[in-house]
Amino acid sequence: MASDERFPTRCIHAGQVADPYGAPYVPVYNTTTFGFTDTQALREAAAAPDRRPLYTRYGSNPTIFAVERQLAALEGGEAALVFGAGMAAISAVCMAHGQGGVAVVGNAYGGTLELVSERLPALGWRGHLAFPDEMEALDGVLSAGFGVVIIETPGNPDLAVLDIGAVAEAAHRAGALLVVDSTFASPVNQNPLALGADLVVHSATKYLGGHSDLTAGAVMGPAALLEPVAGWRKTLGQTPSPETAALLARSLRTLDVRMQRHNANAQRIAEAMANHPAVRQVHYPGLPDHPDHALARQQMRAFGGMLSLTLEGDAAGAMAMVDALELFLNAPSLGGVESLVTQPVMTSHADLDERERARRGIGETMVRLSVGLEDADDLIADLEQALARAG
Ligand SMILES: Cc1ncc(COP(=O)(O)O)c(C=O)c1O
Repeated sequence: MASDERFPTRCIHAGQVADPYGAPYVPVYNTTTFGFTDTQALREAAAAPDRRPLYTRYGSNPTIFAVERQLAALEGGEAALVFGAGMAAISAVCMAHGQGGVAVVGNAYGGTLELVSERLPALGWRGHLAFPDEMEALDGVLSAGFGVVIIETPGNPDLAVLDIGAVAEAAHRAGALLVVDSTFASPVNQNPLALGADLVVHSATKYLGGHSDLTAGAVMGPAALLEPVAGWRKTLGQTPSPETAALLARSLRTLDVRMQRHNANAQRIAEAMANHPAVRQVHYPGLPDHPDHALARQQMRAFGGMLSLTLEGDAAGAMAMVDALELFLNAPSLGGVESLVTQPVMTSHADLDERERARRGIGETMVRLSVGLEDADDLIADLEQALARAG
């Protein structure tokens, strides 16, 4: 397909190949292996398993190839790899490129923090967590010679926006690759590769899957950087099943329309909550008084479906508010068609001690919302009744 197709067209047509029976999409090749007419044909396939179907764990399966072409087209990357989970994608990138050490700069998903601060050091690898307040002194932080720098923007759970171009320059000055976790934004709202990132990772479990019914991950970027990542995916057995790949491909066809509603609903809710007396602060980059609003306007097309509220009162009050919600399901994920609520201190950042949480701006009364596709007025009414009931 032509590379200049616009985003909604790419969502639907990218990655497809002509089917002998006229199927509009590459079907689910639900097999573990592929046979050959003779040994010479097998040897040719084995020499290029990234292009010819051979063995599904290697990722060499037509259904997996198709969703990878689609993912690459959506991020504007040369190539993509799909994984069985977002954490599988992030781990494989670290294994492939992080021999010199891995640094996470700013806030990030708790699983990424755990990987870098505990799992990699357990193998003897250097892992470093740079706090959000160290951004100004980034060159000093990165001078230790890390192989990989990871950032998440917008960040989890405070929705801080980091300057991808500026961090990429600092990472490159220090000889590191910049990997951006763009899960919160989705490729509809932001394309980090175009802003200077070397690789983009997504928990495809979230907006890319979009229905809370699949677990997957993705990495997009130049083929040369993805080749060693594919090697780790193969040996660690991190490839998703063909059914999951096909379900993800199905979901990507509606990504653009879903994100438009996520964006609009979250903006409406952020504006409504900004004036609520029980809400001390709304963390949403689409609000003009968000500290990173100007930067967000420069590097994002829209601001996404995630927002956090810091409530007045105490932890018990925040818990009472969450428990009083009727439409928002209390569940630790995001990006589905249904609205979810979570308290980061109970879920994604439960393993951090109090001092570290404070330095990351994650308070006990912080409530994170994943705004779904319901009617915005119904969601606002639900939040208002829960805040009233919680007192
Ligand atoms: C921003 C972000 N990155 C990565 C992950 C990990 O994704 P997965 O649960 O698909 O492994 C998550 C999970 O919540 C996340 O929120």
